[in-house]
Amino acid sequence: MTRASRLSRCPLPFLCALAGSLVAAPPADLERRIDQLLARMTIEEKLGQMSQGAFLGSPVAERDRQGIRQGRWGSFLNVARPEDRAEAQRTALNESRLGIPLIFGQDVIHGYRTVLPIPLAQSASWDPELVEQGARVAAREASSAGIHWTFAPMLDIARDPRWGRIAEGLGEDPYLASAFAAAMVRGFQGPSLDAPGSIAACAKHYVGYGAAEAGRDYNSAWIPEILLRQVYLPPFQAARNAGVATVMSAFEDLNGVPATGNEFTLRRILRGEWNFDGFVVSDYNSVVEMVTHGFAADPGDAALKGIRAGVDMEMTSTCYRDRLKALVEGGKIDGKLIDEAVRNILRVKFRLGLFDKPMPAAADRGALLAPESLEVARKLAVESAVLLKNDGAALPLSKSIGKLAVIGPLADSPLDQMGCWTGNGVAGDVRTFLAALKDTLGPARVLYAPGLKTAKDSSHDGFPAAIEAVRAADTALLFIGEDANMSGEARSRAYLDLPGAEQALAEEVAKVGKPVIAVIVAGRPLTFHDLAAKVNAVLYVWNPGTMGGPAIASLLFGDAVPSGKLTVTFPRTVGQVPIYYAHLNTGRPASPNGPRISPGIPINPLDYTSQYIDVDFTPEYPFGFGLSYTTFEYSNLRVSSPAIPMGGKLTVTADVANTGKVEAEEIVQLYTRDLSASVSRPVRELKGFRRVRLAPGEKKSVEFTLGTSDLAFYNARMQLATEPGVFHVWIAPDSDRGLRGEFRVTE
Ligand code: BGC
Repeated sequence: MTRASRLSRCPLPFLCALAGSLVAAPPADLERRIDQLLARMTIEEKLGQMSQGAFLGSPVAERDRQGIRQGRWGSFLNVARPEDRAEAQRTALNESRLGIPLIFGQDVIHGYRTVLPIPLAQSASWDPELVEQGARVAAREASSAGIHWTFAPMLDIARDPRWGRIAEGLGEDPYLASAFAAAMVRGFQGPSLDAPGSIAACAKHYVGYGAAEAGRDYNSAWIPEILLRQVYLPPFQAARNAGVATVMSAFEDLNGVPATGNEFTLRRILRGEWNFDGFVVSDYNSVVEMVTHGFAADPGDAALKGIRAGVDMEMTSTCYRDRLKALVEGGKIDGKLIDEAVRNILRVKFRLGLFDKPMPAAADRGALLAPESLEVARKLAVESAVLLKNDGAALPLSKSIGKLAVIGPLADSPLDQMGCWTGNGVAGDVRTFLAALKDTLGPARVLYAPGLKTAKDSSHDGFPAAIEAVRAADTALLFIGEDANMSGEARSRAYLDLPGAEQALAEEVAKVGKPVIAVIVAGRPLTFHDLAAKVNAVLYVWNPGTMGGPAIASLLFGDAVPSGKLTVTFPRTVGQVPIYYAHLNTGRPASPNGPRISPGIPINPLDYTSQYIDVDFTPEYPFGFGLSYTTFEYSNLRVSSPAIPMGGKLTVTADVANTGKVEAEEIVQLYTRDLSASVSRPVRELKGFRRVRLAPGEKKSVEFTLGTSDLAFYNARMQLATEPGVFHVWIAPDSDRGLRGEFRVTE
């Protein structure tokens, strides 16, 4: 949305004009009001606007109140209580010289009080509309507690499940992540930033943070510009195009230059190429950390490099407020850079309507956990669960089953069910898997024995009780995976297998000989080949949030049908990482149909192709994969024309039929490949997707339109262009299969 259209959304423009609301003002007027304010501000007040504090005491300490009165703070983050936000805001508006409001930011990453599935899970829904509703739920709840701004969405493409923050992202694919980026920005920001229930979004972490070497958090990222533009930047550009109000610069050094001091990504691309006019906030301490990186000599130099690069607001460290004044006075830095930063910040504050908006004195409890919010959370949890194995139709379970053994440390663990970044989530609100299963079957038919206290627990003490429960039951449900604190920030892992004694527990349970269903709760792709081989079904539910219990119970008993598909490739072993579907072909590709090295034979490869001597080269589960309780058949691929001229369009259509016995939704995917170009192009790239609902026996034609601009890529001169030539196109159930067609793009 353009600035003009956003500003013209006041429902009653004449009232807004009467009230002197700047939000309804046209852009020129807005800029004039900013000019007027800027002209009255001292350098200290300007630097105050550029400073975000982390610790606001509760109740607000006199020292902080004094700082706010003096205009020394522009923002605070993660303030615990609405009452404290209201008090600080009253002080800023009524007692500071210029009455400039504070902006309160918070990590509302996947819900506020109603905790939604983690973002990686949400992406497995392939349902941007529902994800937008989820962000709206989060925004409504957060804004009711006086939060103006969320540090979300996180748009870091990650192709390395060792990196714990993969949980917070939207998968490995830039096309899909871009769709979700826009959806989340729309959800958080609503029809306009000053609309009731809207908060400012923040596209983070700009940029390349998800490419941390070796998957170790905060580690360096080396990304050639062509890859940066092709893969890592698009979700940010999509957020920008959706009108995102703010952007957060990342922690890592990108090609040797810290993202927070990176003039190329911040000034040239974000401001120059994309005309972003919101503000950029640093990540936590990331300005001063440029000294630790070895990129700045001291905090003053860090301030200089941050502001030059275009970071407007400094989160928590105080290089700007402590050092910039002297640098301006010493002629080391042009005061215009300071004014520009303050202008960007004030613009967002005006757009949010903060100058006029009363702060809620306390959280509006009625806005939290509303039935319709819980329903969105439940639906998201249903749509994001991915069925990875279902031998012999082990699922769904019959409700007339005799007894069900519920085993595993994650069956009744509210915090683990919520996942990482749930500062405002409350354990007592969570409907756990166990509780929901008891609701479904009645408590007497559910035999619960966790076997382990936590996922990391390595003691076998609880095994005998678990085995006894399995013996007494008809089927065992095994809730295993990761504790919530194993994913998220600073939670990198070098092993991706089941932690603690979970594998041993699964083996003991399987030995009993009853059907076993594994429900995996985790913030990342895990490697669980041996487990999958021993159980009848695997349902991957991630950290599904507050409503995870009812959602997963409905899937297990067939009241809902699994439809989620993976948005990240699952490796067979950590040694295959990084592994992703949109890789280049290489000059010696291995082929699933070609000669294969038998895994385990460490010598004499049969073929000099790109594979391993000790493990199959293919992933355990490919991107886009997910099963259903029904089966789908794809047939009759049609490409509307064998050739299209540059600038033209064609349609690609296939019939998709539900060949099973239950109504279900299938996520139909469109991929292309450019067979020869001035730079090698991936073996497949996602270009479209659709959720299609089909009754048993029903067949629908699914049509996609492809224009030549959809086939554009960055060439070696960093120009986005489509090149003529032959393309393959697939309509497919996942990135590994599908019906293939061909067309040619002509000059
Ligand atoms: C994280 C950000 C987060 C910020 C504020 C940092 O450590 O990297 O994602 O928004 O803290 O809590």
